[in-house]
Order: sequence, then structure tokens, then C-alpha cells
Amino acid sequence: MKIIIDCDPGHDDIMAIFSALAHPESIEILGYTTVCGNNLLDEVTNNLCNVLSYLNIKGIISKGAKKPLVYKPEPQPIAHGENGLGGPVFNECNVFPIEKHAIEFMYDSIVDNEKIIIFALGPLTNIAALIEKYPEVIDKIEKVIVMGGSIYRGNILEESEFNIYGDPHSAKIVFDSKLDIVLATLEVCDYCKLSHEIIDGYLNKSNLYKLTYEILNFYFEYSKRKGDDKSPVFDLAVTMYYLHPEIFEGKYAFVDVVLDGSKRGKTIINYNENGNVLVLDKADNDKFEKYFLEDLKLLDNMLKNQNSNQVKN
Ligand code: BDR
Ligand code: CA
Repeated sequence: MKIIIDCDPGHDDIMAIFSALAHPESIEILGYTTVCGNNLLDEVTNNLCNVLSYLNIKGIISKGAKKPLVYKPEPQPIAHGENGLGGPVFNECNVFPIEKHAIEFMYDSIVDNEKIIIFALGPLTNIAALIEKYPEVIDKIEKVIVMGGSIYRGNILEESEFNIYGDPHSAKIVFDSKLDIVLATLEVCDYCKLSHEIIDGYLNKSNLYKLTYEILNFYFEYSKRKGDDKSPVFDLAVTMYYLHPEIFEGKYAFVDVVLDGSKRGKTIINYNENGNVLVLDKADNDKFEKYFLEDLKLLDNMLKNQNSNQVKN
């Protein structure tokens, strides 16, 4: 299946991308579109360029929205560091975004292909802009798998999750459309955790493992400070749902969004079997972690083969 990854990297965005890259047999990444979210657009785009460049991974990166539809950007330095990807320090970067805006890149990719799926790992600004400008693409988007929203709790306000809070107006446009959506909520992410100990020993391994260590070591700090021994890796739930839907549970609903006030970004879930949103609420955490560890190994082998072939040629 052809996939566009719309993201604001972000530690967990990168883990979601690693798992996707590990499965070229079922995921063909047409490109990455970036959106202002966890940090400003240039920062999150640079983070992705740096990661792909460091690992020598080819990919098209296209920059999208510089800000949410109505509100101002709100970078999240506590969770993600000053530049949105605290932890690793990169030297040189030889990957750059293309000139084409993300909306046009998405439109062209959708028109050129039979069907596509979008992984949405940040605020829904780009996706809302796409379907507002080109409503005819809605029928060609098989599904949008979104990390965002919650059933009853929050991580930025008491009842609001960050990606939906970041741009509630765009989220409303997307939920109100006829798009087929899967929503990886905060609640399902309670079952999408990685144990802090998994990264022990990663620094003595390949570039992929070293980078994973640097990214997750920073990311895990937030939960460690609360005394937890596992962290939810939110965006990874999206790739895992695509690859292993059988380990997830959820129910269909229509979803509304609170646009302002103390509940800005709260998702209101109206369960209904005809709803366009599959709201995920449970997953098998053991399998989630096991599959991720397997994906890292797969990707590591792929990168080693690719790099040794390049040396031979
Ligand atoms: C979401 O917010 C971002 O900081 C993460 O990358 C994830 O997409 C979790 O609420
Ligand atoms: Ca994200």
C-alpha cells in the first residue's frame, strides 16, 4: 500500500517512521509531509532531514503548514526538547525538503495513484487544507490513521490531547468529512508503551541503534521523572495499527471537537456503528513491544545490506 506520512518529528514520530521503513513489502512511503506541531515547521522538518541523512535513507520530504488554522504554534520543549527532537546531535545533513508544498505533493501523489493511506502523526492542519482545496481526493484516500484525541482524558489540558488541541479547527474539518479514519487515542496509547530497559546496550551497536538510544533515552526521561518504567510511544501506534490491526480493539463513532475554552481540543466521541471514525481503546502491549523490537532488527539489516551494496558498487 502506498502511504504518505504526515508528521511533526518528534521522538515518537521517528519511531513510527522506523517501523514503517522496516516493512517495504507492505508499506511504500510516497513521501513525508511535515506540519507545525510539537515544534515549528522548520525545526520538525530539519529533524526529519537529519535522521534520514544520518541513516542514509532516501525519501521525499515536503513542508506543509507553518501554523495551525486559527491558533498560534505552541512548541513543546518539555516533552520533545528545544528543537523538537532533543537527544541526538547531528553534524552535517545532505537531505533537504523539496520545493513543492505538502498540499500539492499530497494532491499529486493521490492523483497519480489508485489508493493511498495517510499516517497522521501531528496536528491535522495539512490534511484539512488538502481536503478543503481538493475535496475530490477524499474518495481516493482509503484511510487516515491518526494519532490524536482521547476518550476521557488529556495530556495538554485535562481532557485534551496535544495533536487535536494544536489545531482543533483542522481536526474538526477532518472528522466532519467523509474520510474513513482510525483514531489512536491517548487511551489506546496506554497499551502502546515501550519498556525503558529496551535501549540498554544500544549504544554499542549500529548507527540505527545508537540513534534510537539517543532519541528514546531523551523521550523516556519524561515518564522516568514520574517514576514509570515504560513510556507510551504515541505515534508508533499508527504504524502498528496498520501492520497489525488484530492487536487493537476499538469501536466506531462520530467525533466532534471542542474548538476553544478550557476544553479546547477535547474530542467528543459519539459511538455509532455507522460512524466514520474507528476509535481505538485497547491493544496488546506485549505484542506491540515485540513487533517494534523486530522492526528495529529488520530495518537495521536492511540498512546494513544497503550500505554494504553501496560500498561494493
Ligand atoms: C502527540 O503529541 C506529540 O508531541 C507526539 O509526537 C504525538 O504525536 C501525543 O499527544
Ligand atoms: Ca507527533
